[in-house]
Amino acid sequence: MSTTEEAVATTAVGGPETVRTGERAAEKLEQAVPAPGRRATFRIWRGDATGGKLQDYTTEVSEGMVVLDAVHQIQAEQANDLAVRWNCKAGKCGSCSAEVNGKPKLMCMTRLTDLNLDEPVTVEPMRTFPPLRDLVTDVSWNFRVKQRIKPFRPRAPDAPDGSWRMAQADVDRVQEFRKCIECFLCQDVCHVLRDHAKYDEFIGPRFLVQVAALEMHPLDTEDRIDELKEAFGVGYCNITKCCGNVCPENITITDNAIIPLKERVVDRHYDPLRKLVQLMRGRKP
Ligand code: SF4
Ligand code: SF4
Ligand code: FES
Repeated sequence: MSTTEEAVATTAVGGPETVRTGERAAEKLEQAVPAPGRRATFRIWRGDATGGKLQDYTTEVSEGMVVLDAVHQIQAEQANDLAVRWNCKAGKCGSCSAEVNGKPKLMCMTRLTDLNLDEPVTVEPMRTFPPLRDLVTDVSWNFRVKQRIKPFRPRAPDAPDGSWRMAQADVDRVQEFRKCIECFLCQDVCHVLRDHAKYDEFIGPRFLVQVAALEMHPLDTEDRIDELKEAFGVGYCNITKCCGNVCPENITITDNAIIPLKERVVDRHYDPLRKLVQLMRGRKP
């Protein structure tokens, strides 16, 4: 029996425990839905590349609002020049990434009912990328990284009609990686970029996912293993899993993408048997 069924069954019977359960549910609902006229304070970072500071705005909040709604309301009522990037308001374009109470989040998917509105809610731009203005950061480094990854190179078609045959299991394996919406929240949280600024040596979790999508694609014939080891810096990742924890698409970034890529690098560059064979054949390991 599910929890809901249990609650319904208990209600049908009646009795003191039923009353307490009902009261608790009502209390929870009361906390979750802001009362009419409820106001909350948002502590928003205002500034640009030269510097900035947090500024408090208090605004009315209501049922169903997300952080992006509150920011838009503040923009409309109190701060017309507040810069914020967004497009879909549905968690699919990846543009409204920010740090809400210090955590990387999509503003359009962060419900006010999941935040403590008794305290100011801080809203800051992603710290890993240079600020342009207010909540908008310059994420163009990511697009330059993407250009460095060798593109998809399919093998010749299997069938005379120009089509390919693939095992469903192989297709399923890469499907997860294609859910990425390029919000760059995983890049924002990754300490290799955020704290150690290894922008020239490490491509970050988002692009390791992209490389995995290509390397594991059943039709792809390109080889990106040497780049992974050197130019893409897969060795910098110490599998802390912070990236997967903030991914709004729930991509299992480390277990399904990064670890298999590390294994491929190890197989090629650190397998002693393979090295011996290469030496015997007179090839460079
Ligand atoms: S698991 Fe690796 S890529 Fe992900 S946040 Fe940690 S160090 Fe960065
Ligand atoms: S892997 Fe997840 S967190 Fe990273 S950019 Fe893609 S959707 Fe965003
Ligand atoms: S506005 Fe598109 S993901 Fe938030």
